[in-house]
Amino acid sequence: MKIITLDGPAGAGKSSAAKLLASKLGWCHMDTGAMYRAVALAALQRNVSLENEKALAQLAAKIEIQFQSGLVLLNGEDISAEIRIDRVTAATRPVADAPSVREEMTTMQRNFSKKFNLVTEGRDQGTVVFPQAELKVYLDASPTARAARRYHERIVRGDTSCSVEQILDSQFKRDQGDKNRPVGAMEAAKDAIIIQTDGLTLENVVNHVLDLARVRGLTSN
Ligand code: DC
Repeated sequence: MKIITLDGPAGAGKSSAAKLLASKLGWCHMDTGAMYRAVALAALQRNVSLENEKALAQLAAKIEIQFQSGLVLLNGEDISAEIRIDRVTAATRPVADAPSVREEMTTMQRNFSKKFNLVTEGRDQGTVVFPQAELKVYLDASPTARAARRYHERIVRGDTSCSVEQILDSQFKRDQGDKNRPVGAMEAAKDAIIIQTDGLTLENVVNHVLDLARVRGLTSN
């Protein structure tokens, strides 16, 4: 099946772009951040210690994650909203840092790619999981633009608990964690096309990626 990878930091517009791109292409959108979040949520629900890498990997191997009509399902249950709460975001860090959890997630992600054409978003999709992908894109943006986007997303959800400054601070810490993890660190693949999204609309970004996809023969329209 065909694969387009969209990697990059939180707040660069990956999710919206991946969603719209997948819908325009009629492909499946795989949100791999949501997969790590789902493992973290499952660990919290089952009281699995976030420090016990082996137990986390065993848990990751036995849960079922599905993407259905824009929803994320964990063992058949809709967890789309719950995985975005701060407690789950914090728990996702040790989960995503654990190499053996990443191995399980990589296997699950590659299995999805056997069944569906994928627009996959994450941190390591072009580098580790799908180095053979037909098109690799890395979306980036300035820290302030990313924090502003995150802030706006929270306001839309009715969450006014954080200032832009607080988001900038936690974003910086998360970037450090994402860039420095020993396995699956966030980086652009050598052959990725880097798009700086500051000042670009969602349509601009998606049209740019669609143009690239067309040039590579991934779409006829
Ligand atoms: O994209 P996101 O914010 O939902 O990702 C949640 C966390 O999971 C984030 O800290 C980065 C991590 N992640 C990862 O390590 N590898 C991926 N492919 C996707 C996300």
